Amino acid sequence: MIKKPLFAETITKEEAFLFLSQGNLVAIPTETVYGLAASITNEEALKKIFQVKKRPFFDPLIVHVSNLDQAKSCASQWPLVCDLLTKEFWPGPLTLVLPKSSIISSLITSGLSTVGLRMPRHPLAQELISRTGPLAAPSANLFGKTSPTQAIHVQYEFQNQIPVLDGGNCHIGIESTIIEIISDSELCLLRPGKIQIEEITQNLFKKNHPIKWVNKEKALSPGSMKHHYMPQTPLIIDFEHLNQEDLIILLKSKLPLLPSEIEEVQIIKPKNISTLHSILLDSSPEIAARTFYSQLRLIPTSSDIAVIKWDLLKTKGPWEGLWDRMKKAATYIHFPKNPSS
Ligand code: TXA
Ligand code: MG
Repeated sequence: MIKKPLFAETITKEEAFLFLSQGNLVAIPTETVYGLAASITNEEALKKIFQVKKRPFFDPLIVHVSNLDQAKSCASQWPLVCDLLTKEFWPGPLTLVLPKSSIISSLITSGLSTVGLRMPRHPLAQELISRTGPLAAPSANLFGKTSPTQAIHVQYEFQNQIPVLDGGNCHIGIESTIIEIISDSELCLLRPGKIQIEEITQNLFKKNHPIKWVNKEKALSPGSMKHHYMPQTPLIIDFEHLNQEDLIILLKSKLPLLPSEIEEVQIIKPKNISTLHSILLDSSPEIAARTFYSQLRLIPTSSDIAVIKWDLLKTKGPWEGLWDRMKKAATYIHFPKNPSS
């Protein structure tokens, strides 16, 4: 059903401040993706985030801050490693998961004892948060769907029902790297992003603060779900660079065998498999990441499936963050038969 548009136009900074202060949601620009923000002090507004996104309550929200005092007020521990990391990487696309303080409601953390904290670099986000105080904000898309990197993506996703502060195209284009601070010397990667773990390790080593990366039980990091970011049209990743005919034959045999839902995310399957749309990503990992989500939104509705031909070399190092999003957005991945060749 088409709803009457409540916010056909984007809003001003002043309106964004007022809406947030009055307990409403506002979609805000960040350098990674647009966020659907609410004040951390308003429980009703926080509940609205989950309702509007159709997000299950088990998936916690990241809290966005504009200065270190705000960040420290949200955490009950702040080991030295946090000073070193924030000095180097904040403001920027790095989220730190730390034991939460009492000002953080369990609605934000989905009952976990930790909270994700990030200081965005986007000047509009910084200015707004310095006036409103910390804002909880997941990406401004329906649960499991493609993240928005332009104001128009958010308007389309929520049928103009949510006010959007337009901050232009998101420069990074994929969500922040999330690391959990287990202790002053032990970190755990929960979600890869532009900032790579090698970069973090080296930076801390140079500051005479060596750290160890540890693995944690997946159940404690809900962000590590298998499927997410899925476009309307099924996305196929093909490592074997099959010709169109062979790819169609393969997909006709494979797709019907897939489950219809995994971890509460619906797996998008095509009705027919005849019209293919090719997505070409830039050869630079930065530009490819910046444009990936908008490319997913540009798949013509006339196409049955979208295909990305990919290479194993582009799954590691600077490609890791993008590859994480690609594999979760994909309905099906055709891996090479002989990965060593
Ligand atoms: O770049 C970003 O991080 C964007 C922008 C808007 O800041 N935000 C974002 O939020 O990607 P969201 O909600 O779409 O993804 C945040 C992920 C979720 O998958 C959630 O499970 C995980 O962070 N997360 C949040 N708090 C956590 C916690 N305390 N422990 C483990 N994972 C947590
Ligand atoms: Mg998200």
